[in-house]
Amino acid sequence: MPVRVFDEKEIDLIREVFTSGQLSVLSGGKITGRFEAAFAEAMRAKHAVAMNAAMSVLHASVAAAGAGAGDEVICDPVCVFGAVAAMYNNAVPVFVDIDPITMNMNPDLIEAKITERTKALIVTHIWGLPAEMDRIMAIARKHNIIVIEDCAHALFATYKGRYVGTWGDVGSFSFQMSKQMGLGDGGIGITDNEEIAKTLGLFGGAPTFAAVAYGLHWNYRMTEQTAAIGLVQLERARGYIAELIEIARLYDEAVKGCDWLPLQQSQSESQNTYHFWTAIFRGEGYGISMDDFRQTLQEEKANVSIGYTGMPAYKHPLLQERLGYGSGCPLDCPLYTGSSNRYPDGLCPVAEDTIPRAVLVYTFYSKEYHQQNAEALHRAVAKLG
Ligand SMILES: Cc1ncc(COP(=O)(O)O)c(C=O)c1O
Repeated sequence: MPVRVFDEKEIDLIREVFTSGQLSVLSGGKITGRFEAAFAEAMRAKHAVAMNAAMSVLHASVAAAGAGAGDEVICDPVCVFGAVAAMYNNAVPVFVDIDPITMNMNPDLIEAKITERTKALIVTHIWGLPAEMDRIMAIARKHNIIVIEDCAHALFATYKGRYVGTWGDVGSFSFQMSKQMGLGDGGIGITDNEEIAKTLGLFGGAPTFAAVAYGLHWNYRMTEQTAAIGLVQLERARGYIAELIEIARLYDEAVKGCDWLPLQQSQSESQNTYHFWTAIFRGEGYGISMDDFRQTLQEEKANVSIGYTGMPAYKHPLLQERLGYGSGCPLDCPLYTGSSNRYPDGLCPVAEDTIPRAVLVYTFYSKEYHQQNAEALHRAVAKLG
C-alpha cells in the first residue's frame, strides 16, 4: 500500500443503495447526505456539498463568489484547472507567479494583480504542499476577495495546524481516480459560509426545476453509489495518506545531500500529503545537464517524470488561442475592461523556469515498488555526483 482497498464494506453499502431503490438524493437517497456530513466533520467544516467532479465544485465556487462576465479571478499558473473554472463562469483568469521552492502562488506578488474587477482567487496546494494561506487570506480580506482553495492534491494536508480547504471561503477536493481518495470520479466543496453553501447546494443537490428560482445553475449531483464508496473510503483515507507520507520519506532519503535536486518544500509549518513527491532540477549550476539526468534515470530504471506539462497554464491553446465559446467569451468578453494582451511570454517567469524542472514521482503504488524506485533514483543521483 497505498494500493486502494475496495472490498465487502463498499459492496454492502452499494447493495443498501440498490435495495432501497433510491439511487439519487433527489429520489430520497440518504447516503450522499451522510457522506457530506462525514466529510464536513472529518475536515472540521460546517458544510460539505458533494458533486460529480472537482471541476464542478470549482465552477460552483466561482459562481458563488459572484465572478462572471467582466470580472477577474486570480489563479496560479502551474495547473490550468483554476483558470478553466474561472472561464466556465465567463470570468477572466489573471495569473500570479509562483515561489521557486514551494511551487505555490507567491503571496508577495498578489496585490499587484488585484484590480477593481477581481472577485475571487483560486489557490492550488500544488502536488500536496500547502500554500501560504495566512498571508493569502490577509490580502484577500483586505481587498474583499473570495478565496477558493483547490485541494485536489492535498487531502488532509495541514498549514499551521489547520486543514487546507478550511482557510479560504471554500475548499474543493477531487475524488477522481488518480487522487488520494479515488471514487471513480467526484468532488466535494467545504465551507463555513452559509450563503456559499447554499449556492453550492444549487449546483450539487437541488433539482434543476427548483434551482432556476435562484438563477442559472448546473446539475453536478453526485450519485448515491459514488457517495456510498466515499463513505467507506473516507474511513480508509487517513491510512492512505499516512503511507503516502512514508513513501515520500523514501525519496527524500534518496536525494539527501544532493544540492542540485532540492525538494519542493515550505518554510512554514505544514504537512504535505504528497499526491506527487516533488523535487526541482538545478543541475546546470553543478555541471549536470537535464539530458544527462534523464539518461541516467533511464539507465537506472528510475520511474520519475520530469517537467509536468512543460509550460504554465496560460501557454495552453485554451488561453493562447482564446478558445472558448460564444462571441469571443470568455476571454474577449465585450463587458471586460482590462487589457487584451494578457498572456505574453514571461508573464510568470518563475513558473516558466520551474515547471519544466519539476521532478515528480506519483506516490500511489505499493511501498515495495517505491522502495525499489527510490533506490533507483538514489543510484542515478549518486552516479551524477
Ligand atoms: C489541481 C487540480 N484541480 C482540479 C482538478 C479537477 O479534478 P476533477 O477531475 O475531479 O474534476 C484536478 C484534476 O486532475 C487537479 O489536479
